[in-house]
Amino acid sequence: MGLTAATAVPAVGFATGAQAATPAKKGTAGTDSALVFDPTAYTELTTGITDTEGTAHDVTYHFYKVTSYVANPVDVTYQGLNVSVPVSVDGTAVDATRAPILMANNVGGYMPSSVASATGVGGGGGAGGPGGPGGPGGGDSGPNRTQLALLAGYVVVEPGARGRTLVDSSGVYYGCAPAAIVDLKAAVRYVKFNRGLIPGDVDRIVTAGTSAGGALSALLGSSGDSPLYAEELAALGAADTSDAVFASGDWCPITDLEHSDMSYEWCWGGNPLADGTTVDATVSADLKAQFTGYLAGLRLTAPGFGRLTDRNLDAYLLKAHLQPSATAYLAALSDTDRDTYLAANTFITWDGTNATFSWADFLTHVGARKKSAPAFDAFDLSTPECNEFGTGTTAVRHFTLYSLRHAEGDSARLDGDIPKKLDQMNAMYHVAGQANPDRARHWWIRLGTKDSDTSLTVAANLAARLKNLGDDVDIKYYWDAGHGADEDPGDFITWIGEVTSRRRQNRRRS
Ligand code: DHB
Repeated sequence: MGLTAATAVPAVGFATGAQAATPAKKGTAGTDSALVFDPTAYTELTTGITDTEGTAHDVTYHFYKVTSYVANPVDVTYQGLNVSVPVSVDGTAVDATRAPILMANNVGGYMPSSVASATGVGGGGGAGGPGGPGGPGGGDSGPNRTQLALLAGYVVVEPGARGRTLVDSSGVYYGCAPAAIVDLKAAVRYVKFNRGLIPGDVDRIVTAGTSAGGALSALLGSSGDSPLYAEELAALGAADTSDAVFASGDWCPITDLEHSDMSYEWCWGGNPLADGTTVDATVSADLKAQFTGYLAGLRLTAPGFGRLTDRNLDAYLLKAHLQPSATAYLAALSDTDRDTYLAANTFITWDGTNATFSWADFLTHVGARKKSAPAFDAFDLSTPECNEFGTGTTAVRHFTLYSLRHAEGDSARLDGDIPKKLDQMNAMYHVAGQANPDRARHWWIRLGTKDSDTSLTVAANLAARLKNLGDDVDIKYYWDAGHGADEDPGDFITWIGEVTSRRRQNRRRS
């Protein structure tokens, strides 16, 4: 297939630069009969889908259930996938043979997600449940992204994945890192392996996910064909082919976990908790100080700002993301509603066209921070992420030196397996430093301005880095929106059509 293994990516400020010894192998379809898709094994379903304008449509589609996307599954409850292929909309035939493929994961909270009992598109259950944060479509009521994709004539693939809480009868945790990303990569490989059998263009897979699922979607986008997962993919009997994807849609991605405690304190360090108390000031200051070096190591630049540092990052966030977000929100309001909003939010200056405000006032406006300090590698090991880095019969572990040394003293060292797992789970690792050449080149990134599940810098820095690499990045912050918001699902579907057809045009020209 003429694919190349990903170049090793020793990245500044990341765990180890750990790399697998052997590059991922690239084979051809048809060599593993257990993984061959049966194009005739579908149920024909018809469902009503309301578009973003509120118009109802009847969509008829072929619904396929694939029991397992790997030859040696650990748990088929989580390692299966569903495929939905539109055949007609309001009685007019649709040909999805060469359509883009939306691969939407249901992961929330790094929990297990299964599509095994789903009886139609969008029926899988992540931790957030269908339609909830982490569920398909993630977030707001209204038509979700899988339904809209089907309505637009795209193929929808919904994979399950193991998650952190799964324990076998011997007490062994079998869904902790890197299980979820290995499973999702195996699902991508299954689809690409079945080129010509699965309807849709396997070279135009667009991933989507929200929160932990957004992190995994970003990771699918950034880590395509990385050799870092070769061992785990081989052990599962994943298809021997590429796992690179074309584009990545990421809503409130909870990624860059090993730098999230420091990022969180840089962003929300001065904000109170919901009960009005404040976090430990020393811990917050220690972590915030670590952010300076980390950000410097990323060597991000932005037009009008030059190098992004902890001194100009607040101004950058305001200018690049937060003020445009408020401006778009206010511009869309009626004059009366805008006047009411501005009267209640006097920290905003509105000149009739643009909203401006200070970083300090913005932080006050957001109010309570959702998490304590450290936000991710909690001293008491109570967070989802400490469980995500569990192993064997150990449910929870520290994954940052700061929290580990707080618990065990200054000579403590992270467990030997942790650095590689951090890299395997981190979308930023694959694009920082020497970026993975097999990454997706089209990115849709969304985050609510009131989402304090992670730092506002996580999405911004990922986007800045991708832009620095020359990738096509569509990033927007939703004004006053909280965790899991998706306020423009229809625009995402339109964007998929644009970026995938642009590629076809380029191909024709070359
Ligand atoms: C999710 C939310 C979190 O706050 C977190 O730390 C991890 C995952 C989620 O909603 O998926």
